[in-house]
Amino acid sequence: MDYAQLCILADEARSRSYCVYSDFAVGAALLTEEGKVYQGCNIENASYPAGICAERTAFCKAISEGERNFKAIAIAGGPKGSKPDNAYPCGICRQFMNEFVSGDSFDVLIVHEDLSYDQIKFSDILPFSFDPANLNK
Ligand code: THU
Repeated sequence: MDYAQLCILADEARSRSYCVYSDFAVGAALLTEEGKVYQGCNIENASYPAGICAERTAFCKAISEGERNFKAIAIAGGPKGSKPDNAYPCGICRQFMNEFVSGDSFDVLIVHEDLSYDQIKFSDILPFSFDPANLNK
């Protein structure tokens, strides 16, 4: 599974977004070290804060299946009906991911309109993070 394919899978997951309130559709594809992919989309709710982002959907699926070693996540987000447009993960998702990834070796791929991507090291999008290590865990 190369990163270009992972971006295609993020865009595919995006087509399943449930975003009836924001009309902002996000898809994610999370790659494990072993090469397995978990897709996720944002899932909104009439009680707005009950909604969940695409990245956390993908992580929850993977973690609950026993996965713990992650290599990269591709994120494709933008207004519904338009192509993906450089959507970066929100702060809650960054903190959520931080629990399970190694900042220097986990890659974040931000999908562009033409499905090309920017590749960023996780530690560059969440510097000075609060880690399990802060709690001696
Ligand atoms: N959203 C994500 O899925 N991921 C992010 O990192 C940013 C925001 C979703 C949440 C909500 O359903 C919609 O995009 C608009 O904020």
